[in-house]
Amino acid sequence: MTRQCQDKVALVTGGASGIGRASAVALAGAGATVMVADRNHDGCEETVELIRAAGGSAAVHAVDVASETEVERLVAETVATFGRLDLAFNNAGVGGTFAKTADYPSDDWDRVIAVNLTGVWYCMKHEIRYMLDHGGGAIVNTASVAGLVGMGAAPAYTAAKHGVVGLTRNAALEYARNGIRINAVCPGLVRTGMTEGAEAAMPGFFDRLAKQEPVGRVAEPEEIASAVVWLLSDGASYMTGHALAVDGGYVAR
Ligand SMILES: NC(=O)c1ccc[n+]([C@@H]2O[C@H](COP(=O)([O-])OP(=O)(O)OC[C@H]3O[C@@H](n4cnc5c(N)ncnc54)[C@H](O)[C@@H]3O)[C@@H](O)[C@H]2O)c1
Repeated sequence: MTRQCQDKVALVTGGASGIGRASAVALAGAGATVMVADRNHDGCEETVELIRAAGGSAAVHAVDVASETEVERLVAETVATFGRLDLAFNNAGVGGTFAKTADYPSDDWDRVIAVNLTGVWYCMKHEIRYMLDHGGGAIVNTASVAGLVGMGAAPAYTAAKHGVVGLTRNAALEYARNGIRINAVCPGLVRTGMTEGAEAAMPGFFDRLAKQEPVGRVAEPEEIASAVVWLLSDGASYMTGHALAVDGGYVAR
């Protein structure tokens, strides 16, 4: 049986950890060759080891997605290394401070917007430029349930993730006739480095939030990765401009 992403080349940002690592591993398992990109080089190496141990093919590229120059180099390096770019998962992100709008630190606002919103735009900009000249492709951006509804005490994160949903819909319309599909995935609460940091700072964080999830538990990164692989695969060939909640029912209320 042909695997979902057989013979494709995929780029994953935030691939050193959490949802990005699980997605890089899943994409490789689906037959893609994966460029694992992150500012955490050692974490990328660990992801690549996991992929190679399972018989897959991958390489590492260190990047700060908040730098357009570095993102442009990442796309060029992916093509130089693997000969093409078919699939991209723009997923790198940071959580930011928990504080209300009137108390939110301005430097934290700038950092969260730079990584979570501008970083996704830089990635899309350079991926789309390549895909336009090379027969199309598929892109998934990581938003969040915080891109669909307000969360409270997370103004920069919520604004950035709503922005990612908007960028996704806008670009999907622009390139729908160029063979480029662009969607977003909107995870609920997932057990990753980001949320384990919150649990360490506020013990009971997972238990409290799991109670608000209709399914009564948090997600594992692999549960998001399977949606990402599907959205990037030809199985989702009529999907574009969609923000897919993978959230245990959180926004269904
Ligand atoms: N964990 C959750 O509950 C949850 C829910 C919804 C959305 N998300 C989103 O999922 C994405 C992945 O987060 P995660 O939960 O796997 O967390 P994580 O901390 O495990 O992974 C995030 C990765 O992004 C990388 N990164 C951060 N800033 C970067 C930068 N400037 N350049 C390059 N890499 C950078 C980190 O090094 C890390 O490896 C993020 O966009 C996050 O906002 C997470």
